[in-house]
Amino acid sequence: MIDIAINRVPESRLASSRWQQAPFGTVFTDHMFLASYMDGAWGHPRIEPYGPVELWPSLSALHYAQSVFEGLKAFRQDNGRVVLFRPAANAARFSRSMTRLAMPPVPEDLFLEALHRLVALDAAWVPAADQGALYIRPFAFGADEGIRARPADRYLFMIIACPAGAYYDKPVKVRTMPQFSRAFEGGTGDVKPAGNYAPALLAEQLARAAGADSVLWLDGREHRWVEECGVMNVFFVIDGTVVTPALGGTILPGITRDSVITLLRDQGYAVDERRIAIDEVFEAADHGRLQEAFGVGTAAVVSPIAGIMHEGHAAQLPPVDRWTVAPFAKTRLADLRRGAAEDTHGWMVAVD
Ligand code: COI
Repeated sequence: MIDIAINRVPESRLASSRWQQAPFGTVFTDHMFLASYMDGAWGHPRIEPYGPVELWPSLSALHYAQSVFEGLKAFRQDNGRVVLFRPAANAARFSRSMTRLAMPPVPEDLFLEALHRLVALDAAWVPAADQGALYIRPFAFGADEGIRARPADRYLFMIIACPAGAYYDKPVKVRTMPQFSRAFEGGTGDVKPAGNYAPALLAEQLARAAGADSVLWLDGREHRWVEECGVMNVFFVIDGTVVTPALGGTILPGITRDSVITLLRDQGYAVDERRIAIDEVFEAADHGRLQEAFGVGTAAVVSPIAGIMHEGHAAQLPPVDRWTVAPFAKTRLADLRRGAAEDTHGWMVAVD
C-alpha cells in the first residue's frame, strides 16, 4: 500500500455545489491528488483540498506543452457501491502518453492507488446512476522553472474530479474541415497530450460557425479517410455492419471505443475495424445504406450523429428513434455500470 498523506476539507461543498445546473467540467469535488517527480523518482503523494496550485511563470509545461491527461469515470451502482470503469486501461495509456512526451511515466500502482483513494474520499460526489457519473481527470506536466526547450527535470501528477451529467444533450451535426488535421503519422494522435486539443479548437469554432456542432476529422495526408469525431472515436453502421476506423498511429485507442466493439461483438454484431473513406460514407448515405453514425468517448459515452457535412454536401441519416446499434451499446454500457448486467469482462473495479 502506498502511503498517501491526506489533508481533508473541514466541510464538504457538495450540498451547495449545484453541479447539476453547471456546464460539464466546471464544478470539482472537495479534494485533489498530487504527487511530485524530483531527483529521478515519483514521491510525496498527497491529497489536499481542491484549490489553486502555486506555479512559476516559467513553468515549462506552459511554454512547451509537456503535459498529458486521461479521462475516466466512477459510477454509483444501483446497490450504492461505487465502481471505476477499466482504470487499468487508463493507467496503461497514461504511461504511453508520458513516454511519448519524454516524461517519466507515473508507476501504474501509484496511478491506481491515487484514483482509489481520491474517489473513496469524495465518494459522496458520485451521482446516482440515473443522474450521471463522476468524471475523473488525471494529468501530469513538466514543472521546471525555466524556458529551456528540453524535457523537464521535475513534474507534477495530479487528479481532479467532477460530477457530470450528459456531455451532449442532443444528437450532433458534424462537418469535415479538410484544411485542418488533428493528427499525422509520427505525431501524437494515438496518445493523449494536452497539445492534441488546442490545435483543434479553431477548427471546432469554424465548424460551429458553419452550422455544425463538431468536426469530423479526416486523415492529415489525403484528407480522405475518416479518423475521429470531435473528441470522440467514430462508428458507422452500413448495411448492417458496424464500421470504425482501424487504429494505426493517428487515432486514439479509446477505452470506450474498445468497450463498444467488445460489447457489440459479444452480441453477435459484425464489427469491421478498417479504413473508411468519407466518400464511402456519402455513397452509403446516398443509397440509403448508412443506417447509423455515432461518436463514443469517456465524457460523451455514445452520442448519435444527426448529420454529416462535407464539401457542401449533407449526408442524411434515418431518424435516431429507428436506430438499434447505438442504443444497444449505450444501454449495455449503462447497465454494466449500474450493475444491472453481468460484468463478464471484469471491467468494473470496486472502490472501497
Ligand atoms: C474524454 O472523453 O474523456 C476526453 O478526453 C474528451 C475531453 C476533451 C472531454
